[in-house]
Amino acid sequence: MRTLLVTGAAGRIGAAFVRANAGRYAFRLTDLRRPEDVSQGDWIIGDLSDPDVARAGVAGCDSVLHLAANPHPLASFDQLLPANVISTYTVLQAALEAGARRFVFASTIQTVYGHPVIPPSGPDAAPRPVNLYGASKAWGEALCSAYSHQGLSCCVVRIGAVLHGSGRRWPRRPELAKEIVYEADAVQLLGLALDAEDRPPFELYYAFSEHPDNVEHVETARRQLGYRPSVVVWPPEQAQGDQ
Ligand SMILES: NC(=O)c1ccc[n+]([C@@H]2O[C@H](COP(=O)([O-])OP(=O)(O)OC[C@H]3O[C@@H](n4cnc5c(N)ncnc54)[C@H](O)[C@@H]3O)[C@@H](O)[C@H]2O)c1
Repeated sequence: MRTLLVTGAAGRIGAAFVRANAGRYAFRLTDLRRPEDVSQGDWIIGDLSDPDVARAGVAGCDSVLHLAANPHPLASFDQLLPANVISTYTVLQAALEAGARRFVFASTIQTVYGHPVIPPSGPDAAPRPVNLYGASKAWGEALCSAYSHQGLSCCVVRIGAVLHGSGRRWPRRPELAKEIVYEADAVQLLGLALDAEDRPPFELYYAFSEHPDNVEHVETARRQLGYRPSVVVWPPEQAQGDQ
């Protein structure tokens, strides 16, 4: 069984990923905070901006799912520095030194909010963030590219706005419908990105549920990774009887 480090494992996406993949990986789980349920893996509680914590986290793992971050669009530089800037470096460096096979980085659609059309066309449109959070994730994407040139297979996933929970729910504004990803779809795509064999050393995907305005992005992940997302139904009236 593959050994997988999940950083930020006490967070929303991390907890959902571990729940959905129980038994598929031998989990090493890290976070700043200890969750109530620590039964699913081998936990290390600590701040990943400390290189020793990052090294202990990666030790013995063949892949890394790097979710730990401050995910708030209005976060200040002081808040982003340890979580998003330093920790992405320490975890990548530890993964390289440990000879990890695959590194998947949770980026965000917010890295490209400065493009005139969102999501921008092309599988790997250049980052054009509009806030410090997006800029901190653009740094993480750039680091992944740099480490892929040193021999670490890296996959960036620009995650859309995650809708948690299993029921069908709606985004707050219609224009956000093309950017949403149901939790189960996000978890599916992250798993496919981790498990993919013989991929180029640096890749970038978008994690969206299917919508007429994100076909190109969903198709790329479908074709290259075997992604099978659910369909976003908008407006909600069209889903009568479907809730
Ligand atoms: N939820 C979304 O809609 C969404 C959308 C796009 C991208 N993302 C990205 O996905 C990832 C997970 O998002 P989430 O919604 O689960 O966030 P979350 O805030 O629920 O979880 C992030 C976890 O990281 C941990 N963490 C933060 N700084 C740390 C540090 N220095 N050392 C160790 N652990 C640290 C936090 O304690 C937290 O439990 C993040 O990288 C986020 O930027 C999320």
